[in-house]
Amino acid sequence: MQKIIVANFKMNLVLKFEIENWIKGFLRYKQELASLNTGIVLAPPILSTLNFIEQFKDIKSIAVGLQDSFWERKGSFTGGISASTLKSYGGEYVILGHSERKKYFGETEEVVAYKLQGVSKLGLKSIVCVGETKEEKEKDLTKESLGRQLKTYLDDFPPGRLDKLILCYEPVWAISTNKPVNPPTADEMMTAKLMMKKFLVEKYGASQAEKVKILYGGSANQHNVEEICFEASMDGVLVGKASLVPAELMGMIKRVEERSL
Ligand code: 13P
Repeated sequence: MQKIIVANFKMNLVLKFEIENWIKGFLRYKQELASLNTGIVLAPPILSTLNFIEQFKDIKSIAVGLQDSFWERKGSFTGGISASTLKSYGGEYVILGHSERKKYFGETEEVVAYKLQGVSKLGLKSIVCVGETKEEKEKDLTKESLGRQLKTYLDDFPPGRLDKLILCYEPVWAISTNKPVNPPTADEMMTAKLMMKKFLVEKYGASQAEKVKILYGGSANQHNVEEICFEASMDGVLVGKASLVPAELMGMIKRVEERSL
């Protein structure tokens, strides 16, 4: 299965010159990027989305996405972000259910489920984050937590759209800004992946479940990306901090690309 590397810039690179520098820095690798087998998704801060689409439109391996969107596509929803706009400009992905959306914007699991419906109806690809909090981990409730989130998110999700669904195991405690002591081991990642796979197989059957990629997110960087993608056999990574420096992101891409060949 093709690996994918998703850069979630979060609310960083907020100034015009920072965005321009990032784009310029990443375009230095244009030639290498043009011939990749690995898929790259860039989810920049919302106001620079169209700029990213324009700048990277000629590089086939790169797609652009949103970090969130509203569940309705249009209407009186002040401040809402429509995934329809992304689609009409040629963007392809939307990240949903990130733990920071829950923590700072009050997003509930039910809201994530609505948003997933909205995005998938448009035929866009969703990257849905699923992960246990530090408290849940300490109480040994990882399995319950993942099961509960998947059940809510996929309650009404039709099998016909599974090829557009990407899940990301992102333990909240392992995100770099939450100061993790150690990110999960390859064994722990694999265990989580298997739990998620099992859920999908039970709900949709083995052949349908196969269509869903399962990524890992949380303190991924150049040094651990191979372990994540090959020892823990995750289908790719969702990268926060390490994506803010083009050379670091490219370092991750090269490591995955070389091992995939
Ligand atoms: P870090 O890579 O900075 O830990 O962030 C992970 C993340 O939250 C990606 O969505």
